[in-house]
Amino acid sequence: MHRVVPLKVHYYGTPVVLVSSTNPDGTTNLAPMSSAWWLGQNAMLGLGASSRTTHNLLRTGEGVLNLAPADLVDHVDRLALLTGSPDLSPHKRETGYRYEPRKFEAAGLTRQRSELVAPERVAECPIQLECRVTGHYPIDSASTTAQAIHVEVLRAHVADSVRLPGSDHIDPQAWDPLIMKFCDYFGDGRPLVPSRLAAGWRMPGRLEESPTA
Ligand SMILES: Cc1cc2nc3c(=O)[nH]c(=O)nc-3n(C[C@H](O)[C@H](O)[C@H](O)COP(=O)(O)O)c2cc1C
Repeated sequence: MHRVVPLKVHYYGTPVVLVSSTNPDGTTNLAPMSSAWWLGQNAMLGLGASSRTTHNLLRTGEGVLNLAPADLVDHVDRLALLTGSPDLSPHKRETGYRYEPRKFEAAGLTRQRSELVAPERVAECPIQLECRVTGHYPIDSASTTAQAIHVEVLRAHVADSVRLPGSDHIDPQAWDPLIMKFCDYFGDGRPLVPSRLAAGWRMPGRLEESPTA
């Protein structure tokens, strides 16, 4: 039987992307996001209007999408309640976010120079996409103030470990994306560790009862 449910969240499960973007002082900001979808060499990114990443992407017109594998979950979670913006919105402050200008160090991740854009790549991510921003569209609704940001992939860097040998394709069996589903982390279809985002958002869940890693 179906019931009419006023669902509060529609995050059904999407890969986590670590977005690199350039801060006004020239350093690289890094932020996890998962409201992304792909078509050809294009991606659409749904990003909160107040996040540092949104401002950086729209100001500079470029960024790097680093696709996070499931085994980076602990590193990603360390970034969950951080922002590269010194001015926190009241909502972020209440949720437990804090300002952190050195995201790579906070996450324990390694910087790698990009080839076509200024923001650095995340060396530990086996798929790194250098991108340029080609458009954006405001989303102003009762539930969200955000930007849908259209980016085009300029250059893809792929580790041999996730490439089908001798081809220009990702091996779907080798690539195990970190999935964010209703604010909790999953890999290979299974729950991973309790998520700080889920705690900050006070999301109901069962992860604490049945962690597998
Ligand atoms: C796994 C995960 C997925 C997230 N997905 C999104 C997202 O799709 N869009 C968004 O605006 N924020 C998302 N966030 C929250 C941002 O990471 C958060 O707003 C962060 O402060 C942005 O950093 P910045 O202000 O330095 O750009 C996500 C956080 C986590 C941990």
